Amino acid sequence: MRASAEAPCKAIITGEHFVVHGAWALVAALGKKVKVDVEQADRFQLRSDRRSISRAALAPAESVVETMAHEFSFKPNLRIQISSEVPDGAGLGSSASTMVALAAAISRLKSLGLGRREVIDFAMVGEKEIHGHPSGIDVNICATGGVLLFKMGARPKQVRLSGQATLLIVQSGRKRQTRKLIDRVATTKSRYPGLFEGLAESASEVSRMAADRLSAGDTEGLGRLLTFNHAVLSFIGASNERLDGLVDTLLSLGCKGAKLTGAGGGGSVIALAAEGKEKSTISELKRRGFDAFEAKIPVGGVRSWLRP
Ligand code: MEV
Repeated sequence: MRASAEAPCKAIITGEHFVVHGAWALVAALGKKVKVDVEQADRFQLRSDRRSISRAALAPAESVVETMAHEFSFKPNLRIQISSEVPDGAGLGSSASTMVALAAAISRLKSLGLGRREVIDFAMVGEKEIHGHPSGIDVNICATGGVLLFKMGARPKQVRLSGQATLLIVQSGRKRQTRKLIDRVATTKSRYPGLFEGLAESASEVSRMAADRLSAGDTEGLGRLLTFNHAVLSFIGASNERLDGLVDTLLSLGCKGAKLTGAGGGGSVIALAAEGKEKSTISELKRRGFDAFEAKIPVGGVRSWLRP
């Protein structure tokens, strides 16, 4: 018997970094997925289709398996194959999708009947090993899907959209650096504590407003909030010349708004293209050497199935 699970990746629309310090953030699941296949074997085997993923990078996934095996008293002699459509180091949550799909696939194989919350808790074991003290936003969206307003310690709120929306996802060509960037932002916070508190409050307000604009299909209003949020992220140290330059390029191509997404320092930029100009904007970006794709939202969360 083989169990499989697929989890979407994600893009943070507004509020990254501040979410680690208690603010609300807005996040969407994207259609690119990580798939995990699990079957019984005579010993533990973990493989990834990504040659770039080293044994050390697979260690957090192994910790998820060991924690589940300990909790539910089974031997971790499983053959696990990870297949990913999600670019690594792009700030799109490939590790969170992997951990969520892994926990869901094991739950399915072992008939554990885990609910979404438990899948999230097991996935967090791997995420903490990779990122130190993540807020949990990535695993929550990969498990739940759709669009979420998320705050640590609060019940996530699903944001309903009046129709489909399209985000442009543009890769900067540099890897994002989550741990380093979280530390850099913490330094900014200790240097300007009062100002940081005000910015975190404003990030919550920006995220709530962005959720309203997105639900209403107001892409002009949403775009302005994205660009504003990028400027603030830049101030707290999450951006760099390459990301700022990419945001400027996107605005000069007529986009309604653009910002870095995820930890920053590299990774991806999200943007809202001018009406009907998604494909031509992507072609122009490719001509300038940037990898870019269109992401339609909302998309569903993790799902799992069994095959004899
Ligand atoms: C990473 O996708 C988002 C950050 O806010 C970190 C976190 O929330 O764990 C930078």
